[in-house]
Amino acid sequence: MLLDVKDLEVTYGRTRAVRGVSLSVAEGEIVTVLGSNGAGKTSLLRALQGARKPQGGKITFDGRDMTNASPATRLAAGMALVPEGRQIFVSMTVHENLLMGAYLRGEGGLDRDLDAIYERFPNLATRRDMKASVLSGGEQQMLAVGRALISRPRLMMLDEPSLGLSPLFVAKLFALIREINDGGLSILLVEQNTHMALDVAQRGVVLELGREMLSGSAAELAADPSLAEAYLGAA
Ligand SMILES: Nc1ncnc2c1ncn2[C@@H]1O[C@H](COP(=O)(O)OP(=O)(O)O)[C@@H](O)[C@H]1O
Ligand SMILES: [Mg+2]
Repeated sequence: MLLDVKDLEVTYGRTRAVRGVSLSVAEGEIVTVLGSNGAGKTSLLRALQGARKPQGGKITFDGRDMTNASPATRLAAGMALVPEGRQIFVSMTVHENLLMGAYLRGEGGLDRDLDAIYERFPNLATRRDMKASVLSGGEQQMLAVGRALISRPRLMMLDEPSLGLSPLFVAKLFALIREINDGGLSILLVEQNTHMALDVAQRGVVLELGREMLSGSAAELAADPSLAEAYLGAA
């Protein structure tokens, strides 16, 4: 397994946001984490990124124990997060935002990788020297993905990337996720868009109040009546 998470616990004071969650992502796989607001999805990703120290459990990435590693160590090892709400620096240019993703890597091949990102996202190329604030929500999401890609990750973790996007951009985003996965990148996808996430993922985990409620193949989850009741109907 590329990523292996065992019995993870994340707390804020008395709030147990993540309660003994285990999951894994194999090389080349897309795994989705589903669950409604407050289920603990973002807390799980914060612990994986290293922004929040887990109170228990173990995080292994590519055979290395990352449980207490710094965010920089994890990013350098290939764990990149596209955060909830995109977290674009709106007072910086599009290009400067992309460069933020490159600070841990060397200059080697950087221009080529930047060119590849501009080729993939023509809307970013034409706005390269403009403030990121001019971008639409969908373009900002593409920039957030581009910023993660420029770090040359092996695992991309996305936190509700489709939130707030128009249906057209949601479709584009999922096509992009499929495309970068086809290129060999493993993906851990946190979503509330259950339909789309189960369509693109091979496996999934459903969290409820910090606990694992269900897990299985995407096909099994899509066919599960309790999931259909809880989420698919509302989607
Ligand atoms: N910084 C924080 N301080 C205190 N409680 C938090 C904080 N972040 C999240 N929580 C709580 O942890 C639980 C899980 O939240 P979160 O991980 O954001 O869930 P999700 O991303 O699935 O909506 C919720 O009860 C939330 O109120
Ligand atoms: Mg969240």
